[in-house]
Amino acid sequence: MKIELAQRIRQLPPYLFADIDRKKAELRRQGKDLIDLGIGDPDQPTPGHIVAAMQSAAAEAKYHRYPSYEGMATFRQAAANFYAERFGVRGLDPEREVVALIGSKEGIGHFPVAFVDPGDVVLVPDPGYPVYATWTRFMGGEVHSLRLERNNGFLPDLASVPPAVAERAKVLWINYPNNPTAALATRDFYQSVVEFALQYNIIVASDLAYSEIYYDEPPPSFLEVPGARECGIEFHSLSKTYNMTGWRIGFAVGNAALVGGLGKVKTNVDSGAFEAVQAAAIAAISSPQDCVETIRRTYQERMEVLVTGLRTAGYDVIAPRATFYCLIANPTGYSSAEFAGRLLTEAGIVATPANGFGPGGEGYVRLTVCAPLPRIREAVERVRSLKI
Ligand SMILES: Cc1ncc(COP(=O)(O)O)c(C=O)c1O
Repeated sequence: MKIELAQRIRQLPPYLFADIDRKKAELRRQGKDLIDLGIGDPDQPTPGHIVAAMQSAAAEAKYHRYPSYEGMATFRQAAANFYAERFGVRGLDPEREVVALIGSKEGIGHFPVAFVDPGDVVLVPDPGYPVYATWTRFMGGEVHSLRLERNNGFLPDLASVPPAVAERAKVLWINYPNNPTAALATRDFYQSVVEFALQYNIIVASDLAYSEIYYDEPPPSFLEVPGARECGIEFHSLSKTYNMTGWRIGFAVGNAALVGGLGKVKTNVDSGAFEAVQAAAIAAISSPQDCVETIRRTYQERMEVLVTGLRTAGYDVIAPRATFYCLIANPTGYSSAEFAGRLLTEAGIVATPANGFGPGGEGYVRLTVCAPLPRIREAVERVRSLKI
């Protein structure tokens, strides 16, 4: 029997990190001490009060059955309250305007199933989180890339979208605080997004996974600006905020038709997030947020060591405004893959070539501070002694 992958899987672009992964495995086999600054996964544990909430919820038989598709009413209410308190986005209807997700990636992937038909254009940031483009293509949609340029603060230039493309566009993805550039959006930018979206009848899908990992002002939500709730949905995650990447819990909020469409897909795919995890998530977003302040301070301290250290060593580092990522410009004459390759083989540092997030990332590697401070210091020392 001949087993053939579907076209959509065969057409996936080649895995850009394959070469780095192979080298990483080989170096580890040789016993080399690698400092992994490649992965965007918090190294610290989930705060104790959240773990404790999960422990007691896990023992409750009422949580052992199938969850509701859209999420527990108490979790959706807690999410609506969080939006009111943190962003001033008041009056979200937990029944119609909030849906629980099994991590925000699940919702981001499934959203186009509800709203993208074959031939629809989807406006996708480049560089950007790969799931936006992948699921657009899975649905037969057409990706129109929006370049994020350093000289524009890594914000897309919506005026550069040809009107003929904008007319055919169904969805626009935005993601601030941004992975991989660590850039922020302003409310003025969000206002211009609303105007563009309403002019061309485009759905705005905002990915706010990093909203709580910031270094000065708390970043706004897209839904704060007038008109956003007419055209937008926002994907929120507990993963990065509370060191909960392994728990798989997030939520989407926004326009009821958009939330409802996503919910309809989900009723045909999954059976909701484990309710004990939702109970722990309620504890996370409803309790005082001191643990998040501690998490932010930890990243900030690490980031200062990394950025200052690399700059002193002569590297061009783009100061991150938020997230636990930062971009380093490639030294002259190096591609992102070559620079990341040398960091790995000669300094034992795992970095991500930023072109893994789209061709717009060429010119940079991305480092994270998801490693203890002494390891970050060690990484800086190793880069200093590298002859590039
Ligand atoms: C920009 C962005 N959005 C969404 C996610 C998904 O996070 P999760 O599914 O853990 O909520 C990630 C994870 O790295 C991300 O970088």
